[in-house]
Amino acid sequence: MPPSLEELASLIKEVQIDARRAETPDELAQAKARALGGRGFLKSALSQIKDLAPEERKAYGQQLNAYKDELEEYFRRRADEISAAAKAKAEFFDGSLPGTRVQMGRLHPIRAAMRHIVDIFVSMGFDVFTGPEMEYEKYNFDLLNIPQYHPARDDMDTFFILPGLVLRTHTSPVQVRVMEKIRKREDVIVQMISPGRVFRRDRPDATHTPCFHQVEGLQVGRGISMANMRWILDEFARKFFGPETRTRLRPDYFPFVEPGAELAVTCSMCEGKGCRVCKETGWIEVMGCGMVHPQVLLNVDISPDDYSGWAFGFGVERMAQVLYQVPDARMFFENDMRFLRQFS
Ligand code: DAH
Repeated sequence: MPPSLEELASLIKEVQIDARRAETPDELAQAKARALGGRGFLKSALSQIKDLAPEERKAYGQQLNAYKDELEEYFRRRADEISAAAKAKAEFFDGSLPGTRVQMGRLHPIRAAMRHIVDIFVSMGFDVFTGPEMEYEKYNFDLLNIPQYHPARDDMDTFFILPGLVLRTHTSPVQVRVMEKIRKREDVIVQMISPGRVFRRDRPDATHTPCFHQVEGLQVGRGISMANMRWILDEFARKFFGPETRTRLRPDYFPFVEPGAELAVTCSMCEGKGCRVCKETGWIEVMGCGMVHPQVLLNVDISPDDYSGWAFGFGVERMAQVLYQVPDARMFFENDMRFLRQFS
């Protein structure tokens, strides 16, 4: 026997309640299948009509059809509601929610250090110049007072490209290029730095990579002395390594300066007391510097009788290693995100 019409009515109520509770098309389809599916109660009631007394069949069947139409309409409406709700939810912008963080690219620590260094010198009135990475030997060596058979050439294992052309082994050639340009001016005043890549045929280890970065600096004018150099380099060291930093100058040799010096800064790890990082000395050597050699001035037609200048040069990787205590310079070139992510 099929269910009575009252029983059907209550089954339909239940299915409608389920339909109203459904929040996804899937949940709605399940509710619908229970009533209208192949094994749904309407289908099975229909197949049982033959068990009714013949005079009851017509009225029962009509009512069944009416229920079926009503339910189908009900499910159609509910499906529309569900999809409208989903659309509204997808489009709704809740301005009270916390923001979502966007994955941004960031500067490589060497690039960031270079920018910081450049900013410091620009703030002190220095101009920024760059030169070619493939350089004439004339600029890389000769005009810097490093003639052909000078032993200093051996110190810098050079990549030779063509006769007379090398990958520059330092950024010092840029100071020659700049001085060459301004020598014809009425009054020679130069305050420049030159950041850039340099290349040396070095076997990679904790302190060497065949490509690295340097910043060269130069100040030339009338009556420029080592005291001016000291002031600028002290100022730079405090701005780059921190306000407590002190500096130490010791004689050193570079063919393009006389006198030449090496600048050390107090170890920021132990504040000069002595530790593993500074090899118990309290000092870390960070750059070469000195008074521009008179021969270098003569090489670019600037009279050493009227003008004097000082210069410095340092490796950016070394600076960054000291500042961030990076034990191995090769880390800057491996592009391991676990390393790079530590610098903002
Ligand atoms: N060019 C030198 C080097 O690569 C560094 C240097 C030392 C530059 C002394 C200078 C300087 O301008 O005065 O090792």
